[in-house]
Amino acid sequence: METTLIKINSTDETEKLLFAAEILRRGGLVAIPTETVYGLAANALDASAVRGIFRAKGRPADNPLIVHIASFEELGPLVSSVPEKAVKLARAFWPGPLTMVLPKSDLVPGEVTCGLPSVAVRMPSHPIANAVIRAAGAPLAAPSANASGKPSPTAAAHVLHDLSGKIDAVVDGGPCDVGVESTVITLCTEIPTVLRPGGVTVRQLREIIGQVDVHPSVFKELEGGAKPASPGMKYRHYSPSADITVVRGGLDAFAEYVRDHQSASCAVLCFDGEERRFGCETFTYGKKDDPKSQARRLYGALRQIDESDVKRVFARCPDPVAAQAVYNRLLRAAGFKIQILE
Ligand code: TXA
Ligand code: MG
Repeated sequence: METTLIKINSTDETEKLLFAAEILRRGGLVAIPTETVYGLAANALDASAVRGIFRAKGRPADNPLIVHIASFEELGPLVSSVPEKAVKLARAFWPGPLTMVLPKSDLVPGEVTCGLPSVAVRMPSHPIANAVIRAAGAPLAAPSANASGKPSPTAAAHVLHDLSGKIDAVVDGGPCDVGVESTVITLCTEIPTVLRPGGVTVRQLREIIGQVDVHPSVFKELEGGAKPASPGMKYRHYSPSADITVVRGGLDAFAEYVRDHQSASCAVLCFDGEERRFGCETFTYGKKDDPKSQARRLYGALRQIDESDVKRVFARCPDPVAAQAVYNRLLRAAGFKIQILE
């Protein structure tokens, strides 16, 4: 199959939007930009289209998808009830990078939820995502638009790299603003629990609904028999071709650590402006005290490392609290290997 690239700069480009929507209506697969990462969309109510997503990505059959909506009214039919806390969270963070897991209704095919009794729903804030959902006239199931095992795509070029020839089209809406995936919170547990940190922080969530737990798997590898609350968490998600170690400490201590452990084909993943401190190849992922810029750059940097011949990477550690989502993704890319110098 040939993958069509549809460049859309504004929601005024109605013809192009309708073209993308028509593919979705016919049961096709279209990658769309969202504010977090690009998503690979299909009509969420079309079970056979949804099966296509799993095939194109090579996604494990037990990892459920997020359903994307464009207005709050679309939530009701997808779930069996809308708890008060969901209403409050929606009011505070939708449209935006928050996904809520709620008890599903019969309308949602088991293909979307992989047989789970719950469904994950999100209302993206990207105007083009919003316009495509409206034009398609249906909620869209969309996981990140990478091949399974690759970092999530934050640009249309990343999507084409992974999925060209396997999907009908890519809507190119430019680079993603947030850069890491949405926060996933389940409201199916007695205490709402964050299953994946993301654009909306745990602190922001607590300000709106009070007590919120964070699932233990967010910052450590699940023990052998432990049951993942979110099926996605049992996968390492992404295995970089290089061996990554996160090294936590000040810049001087970090540079000294690199000097002591350096070998051929090793590189450093550091913050902007730090490149000259190292005698080896460097990749950068944003500014040191700016979690937003780190989130925007992380996946692109990991893809650059994958394309290089680098075998071993020492990565500067983001602030585990201020940059919780970035820390979580980098730690996972490192297979939870962290060296603490302080
Ligand atoms: O920002 C995002 O969330 C992006 C954009 C495209 O919206 N999407 C995304 O989807 O990251 P994906 O499939 O890569 O991640 C979805 C996560 C997975 O970890 C999955 O296991 C979890 O959400 N999930 C989906 N349905 C669930 C459910 N019913 N219960 C628990 N976890 C669920
Ligand atoms: Mg994903």
